[in-house]
Amino acid sequence: MSAKDVSDTIERGGTILYTARCAEFRTPEGQERGAKICRKHGIDGLVVIGGDGSFAGAQKLANLGINTIGVPGTIDLDIACTEYTIGFDTAVNTAMEAIDKVRDTSTSHERCSIIEVMGRNAGYLAMWCGIANGAEDVLIPEKYDYDEQKLINNIIASRKAGKKHHIIVNAEGIGHSEAMAKRIEAATGIETRATILGHMQRGGSPTCKDRVYASMMGALAVDLLVQGKTCRVVGYRHGEFIDFDINEALAMKKDVSPYMWEVCNSLSHNYKKQ
Ligand code: F6P
Repeated sequence: MSAKDVSDTIERGGTILYTARCAEFRTPEGQERGAKICRKHGIDGLVVIGGDGSFAGAQKLANLGINTIGVPGTIDLDIACTEYTIGFDTAVNTAMEAIDKVRDTSTSHERCSIIEVMGRNAGYLAMWCGIANGAEDVLIPEKYDYDEQKLINNIIASRKAGKKHHIIVNAEGIGHSEAMAKRIEAATGIETRATILGHMQRGGSPTCKDRVYASMMGALAVDLLVQGKTCRVVGYRHGEFIDFDINEALAMKKDVSPYMWEVCNSLSHNYKKQ
């Protein structure tokens, strides 16, 4: 592809190359077939955009002689070697705007609203929305203790303290928002609705941050390929775009920042301090 082929794409969501979750690629036969197809088309270097699963696939291709560089791209923000993953900013802004809109109805009808955001097994999208939307409760897989009575007590206490709405941001990794809404309504007597934002979080025109970080990470990935490097993953840490060995990147672990979680909670339950 030349620069001309990608003209008019920076402002678009999705992918012009298309994409798929490919079960066959998890098998040695599938990986060999993938490498063969690359060789047939003269593709000697590949930039693999995705998460840990994609990087594990990139590693297999690299072992078969196709130079690969991973670029972290996921709305889940759950890749350990990097503080930023392409797509997160667009998704979190989309979710934040949607939650603002749900809040209008929630306040008007004096309801409790559970809004489920994506993130697979990670709670970053939910936690960021929790802070950005001033949610009353935030449930994330990394921290939720499944003590629903505590949640119900929070809702009742916040209503008694004069709150007109109660926004609960629920991470997809916890899920079951519809059933939770029914249980909360039955236990509190407060009308409760669930909204599952779903794939709208994965589309739309990318934010400035996503466009710039994607351009920087893409450029670094190409520079590495041009230098003959392979089996590396690009990341962003402490204000710098850097790269790691894929094995090293895959072995890293990521935890929710305890301070960010503490702030999220202290903001969400501030009615208790009244
Ligand atoms: O990993 C990104 C993500 O959007 C997750 O947040 C979500 O769980 C999953 O992908 C949805 O995947 P699919 O579109 O295949 O259902």
